Amino acid sequence: MILVCGGAGYIGSHMIKLLRAEGIDHVVFDNLERGNAPAVKDSRFEKGDLRNRADIARVLDQYPISLVMHFAAYIEVGESVKDPSAFWENNVIAVWNLLEESRKRDIKQIVFSSTAAVYGEPSMIPIPEDHPKNPANPYGETKLAVERMLGGYNDAYGMRSVCLRYFNACGADPAGELGEDHRPETHLIPRVLLAAAGRAPEITVFGTDYETPDGTCIRDYVHVSDIADAHLLAIRYLENGGESNQFNLGSGNGFSVKEVISAAKEVVGHDFPVGYGSRRAGDPARLIADSAKARQVLGWEPKFDDVKVCVQHAWNWMQANPDGYPR
Ligand SMILES: NC(=O)c1ccc[n+]([C@@H]2O[C@H](COP(=O)([O-])OP(=O)(O)OC[C@H]3O[C@@H](n4cnc5c(N)ncnc54)[C@H](O)[C@@H]3O)[C@@H](O)[C@H]2O)c1
Repeated sequence: MILVCGGAGYIGSHMIKLLRAEGIDHVVFDNLERGNAPAVKDSRFEKGDLRNRADIARVLDQYPISLVMHFAAYIEVGESVKDPSAFWENNVIAVWNLLEESRKRDIKQIVFSSTAAVYGEPSMIPIPEDHPKNPANPYGETKLAVERMLGGYNDAYGMRSVCLRYFNACGADPAGELGEDHRPETHLIPRVLLAAAGRAPEITVFGTDYETPDGTCIRDYVHVSDIADAHLLAIRYLENGGESNQFNLGSGNGFSVKEVISAAKEVVGHDFPVGYGSRRAGDPARLIADSAKARQVLGWEPKFDDVKVCVQHAWNWMQANPDGYPR
């Protein structure tokens, strides 16, 4: 049975939909601080906080867990700069709690949500997994710290892990059952769509003087269902005895902020206000993944590599759920 920490969140909820579809037994562990209970649907649910070891122990004693998935982090870069303490506690110490309670029970397989933020300012594009790691903010530092902790646990205790470094997760369940509902929302596509829906006064573009063809930042958008698929492959990889490994997850295509806004205008079928601001500190001009390793080793084949499809799925969900999940 699989323990899915953070399964009520954006990416975790798409993961558990896939586990349900595959008939893979699992239990969601989430404190619901940032997640949405309705997104858990009919998966088994245990409320608990990874910062509290007794919560973890209770659940691990109750279920025959053989593999742990970890999505349960704080994710907002700006928040990590303002309050690094909360990030080190929730993104590192809480994971250490989870690893310790798992180790005690001989649970030795973990799939961990990492991020492109471990690389920092890229020295080459596309970015391969062995690119130098220089996180530019505490969020990226905490994710890299866990990757390194997992390296030590592999070597000393034989706990095998797969770290999946997502680039910009986006989109929504193609069937429209799940979507992105972060509060506050900081990700580009939902913010563009909030402006398109008239629920935000405008979408602000931060910086138009980058060294890119249209002057706006270029990012690699990877569909949340493709991310879930990669996790399923990572589970199978570990279950088949695969050694600890790290993989980038990106579509390999870069889209600029202006291109995302144009795609959104096509999808929604009308114009909406766009504002222009100055660059934000620490935003690299381009971030594009080299995901060849995930394709070769895991056999991952992303289905949705066009940002317009991602925008369409996000829009479908937003139109059906204008206020997000009921809370
Ligand atoms: N969204 C992205 O673009 C993106 C990109 C790269 C990496 N990631 C990583 O993917 C993972 C999931 O991201 P997301 O967008 O789904 O985030 P999210 O905030 O939607 O989901 C996180 C979930 O974890 C839960 N959680 C947080 N701390 C917890 C704790 N101490 N105990 C129990 N539950 C806790 C929250 O309640 C929430 O349900 C994160 O680890 C994030 O760093 C996300």
